[in-house]
Amino acid sequence: MVNTEKFIAKAIEEIKTSAGTDKVVMALSGGVDSSVCAVLAARAIGDNLIPIYIDTGLMRKGETERIRTIFSDIRLDIVHAEDEFLDALKGITDPEAKRKAIGERFIRVFEREAKKHGAKCLLQGTIYPDRIESEGGIKSHHNVGGMPLHMEFTKVIEPIRDLYKDEVRDVAGALGMPKEIQHRMPFPGPGLAVRVLGEVTREKVAVIREANWIVEDELVEKYRPWQCFAALLGLGTGVKGDNRIHGWIVAIRAVNSRDGMTADPLEIPFDQLMRIGSRITADIPSVSRVVYDITAKPPATIEYE
Ligand code: XMP
Repeated sequence: MVNTEKFIAKAIEEIKTSAGTDKVVMALSGGVDSSVCAVLAARAIGDNLIPIYIDTGLMRKGETERIRTIFSDIRLDIVHAEDEFLDALKGITDPEAKRKAIGERFIRVFEREAKKHGAKCLLQGTIYPDRIESEGGIKSHHNVGGMPLHMEFTKVIEPIRDLYKDEVRDVAGALGMPKEIQHRMPFPGPGLAVRVLGEVTREKVAVIREANWIVEDELVEKYRPWQCFAALLGLGTGVKGDNRIHGWIVAIRAVNSRDGMTADPLEIPFDQLMRIGSRITADIPSVSRVVYDITAKPPATIEYE
């Protein structure tokens, strides 16, 4: 465990030295990692920091409005790039190719925004497990291995690259950040795209966004899991009203973990699971089946792709 006060002082110094007098753009997703980075960087370089929130069209329900409210007192650029991301994902079914396509889009949008502001540096909230899994070839995080080889940035600054998630939360606490951010569940950079098996389409994203909202609504406050969400597995047969339909199969995933490297499925009372299933099939007409994922990590991963 790091000494948080020492870490904060050192990180601020490092950002100051790396950035010099350059302007720095950063992706602020509203999760604990990027929010901590934003606070550290704002203390280090003040107005030379340009935080940008990209609406990729792969975010959770209400997320853009939430970000706007939480960060209402900082100058935050909100970039609407929904069409751009969904177009880039058209026809792609391979999980790694999806991650790479998203990573590429992120960087291109950032390069565009950076140019507007005359910024040469990119600051990212990459944490230690992201690096280990990317460097180990396990998967490409959009903010590590998923990045294109050619980038127009002269420098990438990653102030929390050596921290585990629980350490980032401690730093958030020490920085006096709101509890809502400090304890927020992790949400993957590639967003809902890694919760839709196969090709990502507008329809599938709309279905999983709604299902995800129901799962979070039923489980977050009550069980405080490391993560809980819904994933779209594919199509299966179902019966709705008097008709046999080809409907979506939705998986509920809820896990506890210390650092995301390993995880155990949450023991959820059966009536609670039934209630989630009923809500999902009642509220989303195209869903015909809901299952609960009982797999630990390993052998499964937490996300689906
Ligand atoms: P997996 O699915 O590999 O995920 O068991 C472990 C933890 O990492 C999160 N995750 C990501 N976070 N960019 C991120 O910032 C990514 O590309 C990414 N992929 C997975 C996941 O939600 C879990 O907490």
